[in-house]
Amino acid sequence: MSETEAKNILITGGAGFIGSHVVRRFVKNYSNYHIFNLDALTYAGNLENLIDIESYDNYTFLKGNISDEDFINKLFLKYKFDAVIHLAAESHVDRSITDPLLFAKTNILGTMVLLNAFKNIWQDAWSNKLFFHVSTDEVYGTLGDVGLFKETTPYDPNSPYSASKASSDHFVRAYGETYDMPYVISNCSNNYGENQFPEKLIPLFINNILNNKPLPVYGDGNYTRDWLYVQDHACAIDSIFHNSENNETYNVGGFNEWKNIDLVKLLCKKMDEKLSRPIGSSEELITYVKDRAGHDLRYAIDANKIKNDLNWYPSVNFEEGLSKTIDWYLSNKEWLDNASSGKYKDYYLAQYGNK
Ligand code: NAD
Ligand code: TYD
Repeated sequence: MSETEAKNILITGGAGFIGSHVVRRFVKNYSNYHIFNLDALTYAGNLENLIDIESYDNYTFLKGNISDEDFINKLFLKYKFDAVIHLAAESHVDRSITDPLLFAKTNILGTMVLLNAFKNIWQDAWSNKLFFHVSTDEVYGTLGDVGLFKETTPYDPNSPYSASKASSDHFVRAYGETYDMPYVISNCSNNYGENQFPEKLIPLFINNILNNKPLPVYGDGNYTRDWLYVQDHACAIDSIFHNSENNETYNVGGFNEWKNIDLVKLLCKKMDEKLSRPIGSSEELITYVKDRAGHDLRYAIDANKIKNDLNWYPSVNFEEGLSKTIDWYLSNKEWLDNASSGKYKDYYLAQYGNK
């Protein structure tokens, strides 16, 4: 999409972890765009993430649920969004194991409601319009010790979370084929960085180390993930949004594979250094616990297509990104405490009242 034209852009899930970085980037870098951040403010949505940009003229927050068809249709009619960058989702695998239906409702039906509303306002007038669907590498299932996920790897999801994301990807493609809707899909590996809710591995373990609580490593810890710094993901989304051909799919990753146990040990060492605790003290908190059901052994991504086609490459190496992330959590203990206790919701009440 051209950078120069004025646009109304809907970003869904913008109060969450990755979404807040994408919203900030677009609001600050593109003053000719008006960014509408639509978020239901579930447990994972936190408007404290966006305090620094909430008074910008080209930014509007909208509270609402993507599964609410009537509300979404009215919103699209009112604002005539030129583009949608869709990040709103239930995103945590462990929660999907306990409440799979919620994942189907938000991730599949919610995506369909958005696709339908977008189709209804533009019908066949698709010039300079785009539906950007932000997805995950988990749709590809699991790898053995070797190999990489490519854009052509068949989908083979194993968790209710990844199955719901895979299904939503299919619907996006189907709307492209059936209604000529221009779309792009990105499938990204594990993100880490500032503002991640402390239920995911890295912020959970930072929080537990700070509070001298056990670090629950699932199974034997020999599971592998590829890790990407969240602002590099936001940069990849920007690059795909502006430079991709329509109807493309890009894998996004950090070229950065870690076994969980090695990552946790590195995190422990860095935390000891930063907290001036004796080296080895955080590692003593490691506790091996019952494995996650259906735990995928290894995710690893071949991100050469976006590197070669769009000249995108991660700018932050893992040690540097992990250090920045730890520093952010250490200087934002109130954010961490508010997120862990649910107190962050008071901010919304104070700011917006009970609507
Ligand atoms: P997150 O859980 O931190 O944030 C999700 C946001 O969506 C929250 O603000 C939440 O309030 C909002 N939301 C949830 N249900 C909603 C609904 N029904 N209506 C409106 N808003 C709703 O998630 P995240 O980690 O920032 O992930 C964002 C997107 O990126 C997701 O689509 C996820 O699948 C994808 N993704 C995440 C990762 C990762 O490592 N976190 C990696 C690849 C892809
Ligand atoms: P997570 O951050 O939940 O991301 P995902 O499941 O999307 O990869 O988990 C990352 C890895 O860390 C995954 O292999 C599961 C493991 N893990 C633990 O060992 N203990 C934990 O408490 C959590 C949350 C995750």
